[in-house]
Amino acid sequence: MTKVTFQNVSKTYPKGIEAVKQVSFEAAKGDLLVLVGPSGCGKSTILRMIAGLEDISSGRLYFDSELMNDKLPRQRDVGMVFQNYALYPHLTVFENIAFPLTIKKIAKKEIKKLVEETAKMLGLDDLLSRKPKHLSGGQRQRVALGRAIIKKPRVFLFDEPLSNLDAILRVQMRSEIQNLHRKFGTTSIYVTHDQVEAMTMGSKLVVLNHGIVQQIDTPEEVYQNPANLFVAGFIGSPRMNFFEGAISIRKGVSFVESGTGNSFKLPNDMAAAGYVGNSQAVTIGIRPESFTLEKNISRQEIFVKITNIEYVGNEIFCYFRTNESNKCLRCSPDMKFEIGDEVALKADPGKITIFDGKGDLIRSTY
Ligand SMILES: Nc1ncnc2c1ncn2[C@@H]1O[C@H](COP(=O)(O)OP(=O)(O)OP(=O)(O)O)[C@@H](O)[C@H]1O
Ligand SMILES: [Mg+2]
Repeated sequence: MTKVTFQNVSKTYPKGIEAVKQVSFEAAKGDLLVLVGPSGCGKSTILRMIAGLEDISSGRLYFDSELMNDKLPRQRDVGMVFQNYALYPHLTVFENIAFPLTIKKIAKKEIKKLVEETAKMLGLDDLLSRKPKHLSGGQRQRVALGRAIIKKPRVFLFDEPLSNLDAILRVQMRSEIQNLHRKFGTTSIYVTHDQVEAMTMGSKLVVLNHGIVQQIDTPEEVYQNPANLFVAGFIGSPRMNFFEGAISIRKGVSFVESGTGNSFKLPNDMAAAGYVGNSQAVTIGIRPESFTLEKNISRQEIFVKITNIEYVGNEIFCYFRTNESNKCLRCSPDMKFEIGDEVALKADPGKITIFDGKGDLIRSTY
């Protein structure tokens, strides 16, 4: 197993396009590290630099203690799986999977044995004589996986391998990739813009935006202690609600939304421990599932009018607005709300996230 270290790596494309800026992370031996971020944030560029398909402008890439910057792609021994499968259309499934071994001039008998083993593992054994155009998307992606696996590479690189698949297949292939990772234990770096895929697959997430690392943490940490407003808004669906306003310290500590006067109670130790001061401008983040509905109206509540309701079966999303920005409350379908209903909400005091004026995390109460 190989440790992959990316050290202060930057990438500038011609015409001065800075796609990746001073990015550092480490995929430990046997890790499944996920790079996640919106379109254009530099994920594929990072993967292509690891594979050797793109030069590194500055910084260092190591496989264990070996500097890889100037190694040719074939010297790196990586297996890469792309979104668009990149299969050879004129070759059969057998020949596609066998390809990395054929070019290494391995004995035909050995190739046959390995291809059959790999195909069996991926449920492709009945399809070996077909051409890619006669396969479904999921089957094609399995062939691409087989072609990467058969090389027994030092490192697996996955670039959005599931985004061309329908929702059911995507969930199925997600488990298959996780199973393969458990079976082989090969260090893997997995790129996706889908935050659900990132949360479910990775043992560690690297969250990127505009070519810059925002946070490196476990899925739980990223969800409960997002480093800044970007991470908080990107991870979680429906997204976190943000309220802008200021801290008020009177008898206790609370947050008051500017413009509306809506207020949420915060733990008193927030001020005592010096995290916040009176009148400090902050943004409060509350996830849609972290409100409780209030029957007994008191001062520590906000009143909202429901503007839209989405029924998704096991739950409903109720939308409301404060200060012209759309917000969401997630609750049980047993709540027979209707559009126009006024409800009193309270934030769960153990699930509030507080950001400073620059949008960086002050503290989360999770
Ligand atoms: N060959 C290239 N020449 C110039 N700019 C490029 C090149 N390839 C990518 N870029 C730019 O670099 C930035 C990062 O691109 P990259 O493909 O790494 O993003 P990504 O995170 O993989 O996005 P997506 O989720 O859409 O695949 C983008 O602004 C893109 O336009
Ligand atoms: Mg990409």
